[in-house]
Amino acid sequence: MTRALLHPRIASDAVSAEAEARREFAADVARDLSLRPKRLQPKYLYDALGSQLFEAICELPWYRITRAERRLLTRYAAAMTEPLADLTTMIELGCGSGEKLALLAGGMRRRGRPLRVHLVDISPTALDLSARTLATLPQVSVVTHGASYDVGLRQAAASPLRHGATLALFLGSNIGNFHPTEADAFFRSVRRALRPGDGFLVGADLVKPEPVLLRAYDDPLGVTAAFDKNLLVRINRELGGTFDLADFTHEARWNATELRVEMHLVCRRAQQVAIPVAGLSVAFEAGETIWTESSYKYVPAGIGACGEAAGFDCHEQWIDRDAGFAVTLFRVR
Ligand code: AVJ
Repeated sequence: MTRALLHPRIASDAVSAEAEARREFAADVARDLSLRPKRLQPKYLYDALGSQLFEAICELPWYRITRAERRLLTRYAAAMTEPLADLTTMIELGCGSGEKLALLAGGMRRRGRPLRVHLVDISPTALDLSARTLATLPQVSVVTHGASYDVGLRQAAASPLRHGATLALFLGSNIGNFHPTEADAFFRSVRRALRPGDGFLVGADLVKPEPVLLRAYDDPLGVTAAFDKNLLVRINRELGGTFDLADFTHEARWNATELRVEMHLVCRRAQQVAIPVAGLSVAFEAGETIWTESSYKYVPAGIGACGEAAGFDCHEQWIDRDAGFAVTLFRVR
């Protein structure tokens, strides 16, 4: 209470930012549920509960991305950071828990200078968690950007304190959420924010047998199903939606042509769902789906080609053969 009285601007700024985010959510939901097939954007999976469910997914035996990447970062942190002379800044896009960046920063050899870390994430829960994780490291200062990748990247890159080399990080196979043309555009926008001598470290999940992929995205404990359905819970809570969760089933599909795992919410019976705050009433046929996420899978050379097309040199690639996961270090040409 005292705080709010002492800082009325801050309190009201936070309120209007929240209202603005709500309006954007409503507009996106209205547009995306009017498309054929119906869809919802995966970024909305990460409210407070969704972020926690994702952290739980990372602990599942069937979801191996997080552990594979952790192994690579732990083992090769020095090799991943050494090629960048005078590394003073890291920018992590989609920081999640912050654990990965902590491994990398902790494993850097001969770190003389303080390290400034920019965390970019749309989830306040994730930002909070990772800022706290990183603040425990000596000589590390943290700047958080509660923003989309593009906006956060521009803010971080424009930081007046940026000297020496910068390493941008896009880990956890977040790249998988992008359609290949979006991935190309994303690589280019990262390239534009960086300068010669800077680096870009990308973690990407690799193509593997279909049953292994489907288990990772439709696990026997039902955690991924809960993560997916929570999107409907969120629409009900924030937009006054009338989704009956019992009528929707989570489904993972491997699209072998597009090389992507798709998550869908399948509507069991024909019905009408109202979403008043989005000004919408949506008709569902029995069996119709809402496509909530794509996770594109890569071959190692494909990741390299993506970076090279955007003006990076592929410096080195580390692969965990066991889980089928690759971390690639690019340098600005
Ligand atoms: C955070 C986008 C990398 O696609 O593997 C996990 C999200 N979805 N289980 C992924 C996710 C279902 C995850 N990424």
